[in-house]
Amino acid sequence: MTTLNSHNIPRHVAIIMDGNGRWARQKGFGRVFGHEKGAETVRDVVTASREIGVRWLTLYAFSEENWKRPQHEIQALMKLLRRFLKRELDEMQENGIKLNTIGRIEKLPAATQEILLHTIQKTRENQDMVLTLALSYGGRQEIIDAVQAIARKVANHELDSSDITETLISNALYTQGMPDPDFLIRTSGEYRISNFLLWQLSYTELYITPTLWPDFTKAEYLRAISEYQHRERRFGSTGTGQ
Ligand code: FPP
Repeated sequence: MTTLNSHNIPRHVAIIMDGNGRWARQKGFGRVFGHEKGAETVRDVVTASREIGVRWLTLYAFSEENWKRPQHEIQALMKLLRRFLKRELDEMQENGIKLNTIGRIEKLPAATQEILLHTIQKTRENQDMVLTLALSYGGRQEIIDAVQAIARKVANHELDSSDITETLISNALYTQGMPDPDFLIRTSGEYRISNFLLWQLSYTELYITPTLWPDFTKAEYLRAISEYQHRERRFGSTGTGQ
């Protein structure tokens, strides 16, 4: 059993959930079965996050690049997401979890957009944890959207170029109002950021595990959080107070 310091729980945990396809192939199944098992891990990690007091949990559920996957796999992922949202609504309500999304949601199938909006609406008053699903999300696309919005304001004389600060840029991103992640977990062993939260991860502590996402357990999640608690976060300073 991992013992955690309840005073040093990362406020915002972000996760790149990778390895569903490999997990399924290794077991001789199709990739979609891996995503189905992956959805069960999502459920366990959401529950564990809520239990230990994480306030913001952001999951990379579908990247902008994932649109290049075979149609049947995209459709299966969308269906899985709809099923997940339908199934988990009561649980979200009971546990005070508010749903949020980041990404170009307008590109998702209408039925998926509908249930997302419905769940966001139903859970909007919940206060204990914000679950953000990154869907049709790309970090560079997010920066492009922000730069375009800022450039429009400058062109309309609503803003001067000298007004552009870190805060102004942060507030123009999809993640406006959210704290930057304290901790990023990536499963399945690749040492990449893969276009996830490029601006926001500047000072985030990284944890990369070879475990494939469907095999990522609550116990391993708690061990990861415990490792976070042993890191010294310096945000670019020396850590000696000098
Ligand atoms: C990466 O595995 C995972 C994804 C592309 C999507 C993540 C989706 C889920 C965990 C399931 C449903 C999500 C929710 C929120 C219910 P991969 O297919 O890239 O694995 P591979 O690298 O082994 O091929």
